[in-house]
Amino acid sequence: MSTSNSKPSITAIVAATQSNGIGLDGGLPWKLPGEMKYFARVTTGEEPSSDLDQQNIVIMGRKTWESIPSKFRPLKNRKNLIISNKGIDVKESINTKSFNSIESTFEFLSNSNTNLNSSNKIFLIGGSQLYKTFLITKPPLINRILLTRIISEFKCDSFLEDFKSHKSLKNNLPIWKKSNHLELENWLGFKIDEENEEKGVKYKYEMWTLNEESE
Ligand SMILES: NC(=O)c1ccc[n+]([C@@H]2O[C@H](COP(=O)([O-])OP(=O)(O)OC[C@H]3O[C@@H](n4cnc5c(N)ncnc54)[C@H](OP(=O)(O)O)[C@@H]3O)[C@@H](O)[C@H]2O)c1
Repeated sequence: MSTSNSKPSITAIVAATQSNGIGLDGGLPWKLPGEMKYFARVTTGEEPSSDLDQQNIVIMGRKTWESIPSKFRPLKNRKNLIISNKGIDVKESINTKSFNSIESTFEFLSNSNTNLNSSNKIFLIGGSQLYKTFLITKPPLINRILLTRIISEFKCDSFLEDFKSHKSLKNNLPIWKKSNHLELENWLGFKIDEENEEKGVKYKYEMWTLNEESE
């Protein structure tokens, strides 16, 4: 895929079981309010601005958009970019825009007022199809993954691409490297427990970045 010259720095954020399950029947297989709060806090940023140009961006596929209850969308204090070939039934506003391709989304990112070198963060928030495309493109279209690893198993019908098994063709090293918890906290800008439990469901917050040693 050819994208514009300035490649945006994009972080995928996803919660997945140990067998990479992420969804069931178009929604999430679990209800974990604490994990949802983490998602909202991270994607919104610590001091959400009323100035749209200062807000973080969330990119999602049409099915993920539709999975958000209508009273919660667009996700507040974030610019919502939705990717759909067939278009979506959404009232476009300054913080909700739809695109018919990843290329046109990237075009918008590089031409919009959002300064890609500023402190705005850009997140890919799902779902399965878009995570896969962004991960299997060479080089990947994302450079960081915030993964909530759900330790319990849940019945799922959509899955996260198994990025941990991706190896570089040149030197066969893993493309993704797990950061330590301090590196995650430093990137987030706040402290968070690494291991958590809600309603008997255990989960861990992880961060993965591109492995500089892989070519
Ligand atoms: N656990 C988590 O962290 C997490 C996060 C997000 C979502 N999910 C779950 O994931 C599931 C949804 O994932 P999904 O894979 O079914 O759907 P999705 O990736 O959210 O959306 C797929 C749709 O996006 C559009 N699309 C994808 N790639 C495109 C491209 N290159 N160009 C243009 N349009 C493109 C197409 O829309 P059109 O059909 O309109 O053309 C496609 O049908 C749900 O169960 C959801 O709850 C889980």
